[in-house]
Amino acid sequence: MEHTIYYFSATGNSLHVARTLAGKLGPCQLVSLSGLTELPQVTVAADVVGLVFPTRYFGLPPLVRSFVERLVLEKPVYTFAAVTSGSNRHFSSALVQLAALFQQKGQHLDAGFHVDMISSYLPLSALPPEPKLQARLIRADRQLERIAAAIQKREPVMEAEHFWPVFAAINHYWRKQLLPQSYRKFYTTGTCSSCGSCATLCPVRNIRMQHGKPVWQEQCQECLACLHGCPSQSIEFGARTAGKKRYRHPAVTAAELMAAKSGAARSSQNTEQSEPSYES
Ligand SMILES: Cc1cc2nc3c(=O)[nH]c(=O)nc-3n(C[C@H](O)[C@H](O)[C@H](O)COP(=O)(O)O)c2cc1C
Repeated sequence: MEHTIYYFSATGNSLHVARTLAGKLGPCQLVSLSGLTELPQVTVAADVVGLVFPTRYFGLPPLVRSFVERLVLEKPVYTFAAVTSGSNRHFSSALVQLAALFQQKGQHLDAGFHVDMISSYLPLSALPPEPKLQARLIRADRQLERIAAAIQKREPVMEAEHFWPVFAAINHYWRKQLLPQSYRKFYTTGTCSSCGSCATLCPVRNIRMQHGKPVWQEQCQECLACLHGCPSQSIEFGARTAGKKRYRHPAVTAAELMAAKSGAARSSQNTEQSEPSYES
């Protein structure tokens, strides 16, 4: 049985979840959404199709929304989503939004899961102390056992998001009103070494280096990959990130996050590396 998992990840949580699931499921291709942003259509012929991505303002990241709108499933398949977050399913509308998007296209989201991890949204919260952070990640890994087992059995499990109408409204407001302006809130401090890691990490190529300094363009997804990935911690976002520790999932390297941008498909287990067919 062929699996394809599409993922989006800024600080590694979702990449870790995607590849852990891939490792448990059998022959599986991992494909980063960052490399697919410019394709008008993405056709996939796998038997099981998964999406793994972070919660953004209580709902779907725009990158995921745009991907699903362009996704073409060649045959009836089992579809699932795993949403990573800094809180839990009670503060989310991501699965409900995703299921509605599939439905609009005459497709079906068969299963949806939440994986509680570490919040990358530094303006709102600082990282927990190290022991608590590790404990949360261990708990998340345990959740993955259960999720992989459900996917293997093709169970139609949809984890409930009880307060989704409120959170869907907040997500809509963020996407339409706040996000288009958020690129203006980034700035560098005097310690910027002009290394360009921020531009390399940005999943949507939204950062241009000008006179050795990053300049944020208007397509920002507010994923904070640049802020968390800056080796000299010289990037701030608004007034509430200064002095706060940065985050990357401990099992994921900066190079792996950078490589994800190329959109290269990676196979797990013993399958040949072959690309899903992308139509333009
Ligand atoms: C702009 C932004 C908004 C976020 N909104 C939420 C949220 O509404 N609820 C939540 O639990 N976590 C939220 N987070 C935290 C991420 O969803 C969480 O840390 C996720 O696991 C990060 O995944 P990644 O490491 O794959 O990028 C937000 C993060 C960012 C950058």
